[in-house]
This record gives sequence, structure tokens and C-alpha cells, in this order.
Amino acid sequence: MTVHIGAKPGDIAETVLMPGDPLRAKWAAETFLDGAVCVNEVRGMLGFTGEWKGNRVTIQGSGMGMPSLSIYANELISEYGAKTLIRIGSAGAMQDAIELRDVVLAMTATTLSTPSRGIFREMQFAPCADWSLLKAAEAAATAKGTKTHVGGIYSSDVFYDERPDLNEQMTRHGILAVEMEAAELYILAARHRCRALAVLTISDHLIREEALPSSERQSSFGDMVEIALEAAFA
Ligand code: ADE
Repeated sequence: MTVHIGAKPGDIAETVLMPGDPLRAKWAAETFLDGAVCVNEVRGMLGFTGEWKGNRVTIQGSGMGMPSLSIYANELISEYGAKTLIRIGSAGAMQDAIELRDVVLAMTATTLSTPSRGIFREMQFAPCADWSLLKAAEAAATAKGTKTHVGGIYSSDVFYDERPDLNEQMTRHGILAVEMEAAELYILAARHRCRALAVLTISDHLIREEALPSSERQSSFGDMVEIALEAAFA
């Protein structure tokens, strides 16, 4: 057990999918894994371990934002031996050519700040995805026929942004989408020599001010979970 995860040693697989929402972890585990068992309930941040095509997988909620993700990813890596961590989550599109329900594979994650900022100080570290995961996810998405974009994303600390000019600069510089967790995940993976990737489904559009109705969110996230699983075990 760690401070935030109640799982016993050995309960967590080396491959962990991390949705922000713990109820999405439950849904994904029940939908895609065989023999899924709940391994964490601390603070309601549910985690499940089961098998996908004979491979052991844990699906553990990360919570929203980099400080929360950092707690879970640190404990998964340092205390439970996680080696491959894939964020599965939603993002807001920042380019016209991207549509609701499209999938974005985050090659890099630009940020203003992360919980690791204190380590880097004036250095601007470039958080990036693991190449083997990115390549495999792109192949899996193409095989499924899912409309997918590969490129840079923006990991923000704010959902209700009082500085819309920052979003405009991200759009201007070709950033595909905004979310709130990937950059810190990539930094932690680099620090601990793990593999990380963020597979994101577009749930809202910052330019066109569109959003998926909540009734449709769950179903459109299924493709993303399958792409993440295919990539992890390619
Ligand atoms: N996740 C999904 N949509 C988002 C947005 N518009 N901003 C930040 N994170 C998001």
C-alpha cells in the first residue's frame, strides 16, 4: 500500500492505463478487460487489474490536473513497478481541421508549469511521448479507421482560462489540443525510464465552441481505450 493507492504489492500490472475519471476506469475495465478486479478505492480513485488478450493491465484513475496525476504516476512507478503508462482522456481541439470524437496522439506536451518545474528551474524541458508507443498507437488507429492526428498538445493548469491569449498562441503554433495531465506524465516517464503516451479523444472545440453531449462521451472513448491497449502490447 502507498499513501494514495491501497493495492497490495503485485496487484498492479507493469502496463497501466490512466483515465482522469475513476468511473471511466471502472467502465473501461469492465468493458475491455477479462477478470477485472478492483485494486484501489482510496479516495474513490478507482483502479482495476485484469487481462486484455492474455496481457495483464491495470486501469487506474489519475484525477484531474498534473498535481493529481503526479501523485498516482509516482506511486505506480516507484512503489508498484509500472513501466508503461498511457493516459487515456479527453481534450479540447485547438485547430479547425480537428473534429469532435477525433483521436489525438500527443507527440509532445507544451506547458507553462508542471509539478516538476522546481527541478528544471530556468530550463525548458521538452516532454515527449515514447516513440515505440506513439508508432504503435498510430498504426492501431489507422487499422481501426479512427480519424487520428499526431502532434503537439498543450497541458494546461486551468480549465476556465482567464488568459485566452495563451490558447490563441498555442493554436497559432500548431498545437492540436489542450488537456491537463500529459506533460507531467511524460516528464515522470523520462525521469524513471518508463514509456508514456497520451491518447486523447476530442470532447470539445475551443475555436468552434462545440462539445460532445455527456450521453455520447463514454461510447466515443471506447476507440481510444482499444488504441491504447493495442499500442501497449504491440
Ligand atoms: N479537457 C477536455 N477539454 C478541455 C479543455 N477545453 N481544456 C482543458 N482540458 C480539457
